[in-house]
Amino acid sequence: MKSPQTTSLNYIIRPFKKEDALLWQTWDIDPEIQSYMPEPKNEEEDISAQYEYIEECENDEGGYYWSIETKDGVTIGTVSLFEINSHHKIADLGIIIGDKEYWGMGVATEVVNTMKGYAFNILGIERINAEVEEGNLPMNKVFEKTGFEQDGVFKNARVKDGKRINVLHFGICK
Ligand SMILES: CC(C)(COP(=O)(O)OP(=O)(O)OC[C@H]1O[C@@H](n2cnc3c(N)ncnc32)[C@H](O)[C@@H]1OP(=O)(O)O)[C@@H](O)C(=O)NCCC(=O)NCCS
Repeated sequence: MKSPQTTSLNYIIRPFKKEDALLWQTWDIDPEIQSYMPEPKNEEEDISAQYEYIEECENDEGGYYWSIETKDGVTIGTVSLFEINSHHKIADLGIIIGDKEYWGMGVATEVVNTMKGYAFNILGIERINAEVEEGNLPMNKVFEKTGFEQDGVFKNARVKDGKRINVLHFGICK
């Protein structure tokens, strides 16, 4: 389904545009951005694969996928509510701030708070789930600041740099 545009206090949260794919290619090869991703890419994905991904997102009946843009038109990240289950009224949340100039400025905190409101008040979701690698301190901090509670640990769930690492499970209820 097409994700309707919304806003947070300082950012426009809009559906993907084809041009976003060019930015994602630069984010794909940035080791710092990739370091806590489930499957770090570390190489540029073919632009046609990126376009296919946009199409898949637009056709996904169980997810909303947005780009995060500043009010003066700089695209700085993506955020999604996906794996929506309307019976259990749950969704997963994912976020990337790909423009590192904006790290540590409270963007993710503001956008996650906006997504909580969007999910709970507009989509009728009653619980949001999220997973984050134990070592991803900034994302752990964002969940802490936005009221998510850690309610589980998937021990040794992923391999990172040749070592098994823990993945933390977070959730928040309406
Ligand atoms: C994780 C991410 C989304 C955070 O975005 P952001 O906009 O920088 O987050 P915010 O500024 O809202 O908050 C980050 C917090 O972490 C803190 N922080 C940053 N580095 C830290 C570190 N090494 N140790 C502890 N805290 C740290 C910041 O100080 C800030 O807290 P504060 O506001 O109390 O000072 C961003 O770094 C990112 O996109 N990383 C790559 C992709 C990724 O990991 N996505 C999440 C996958 S689950």
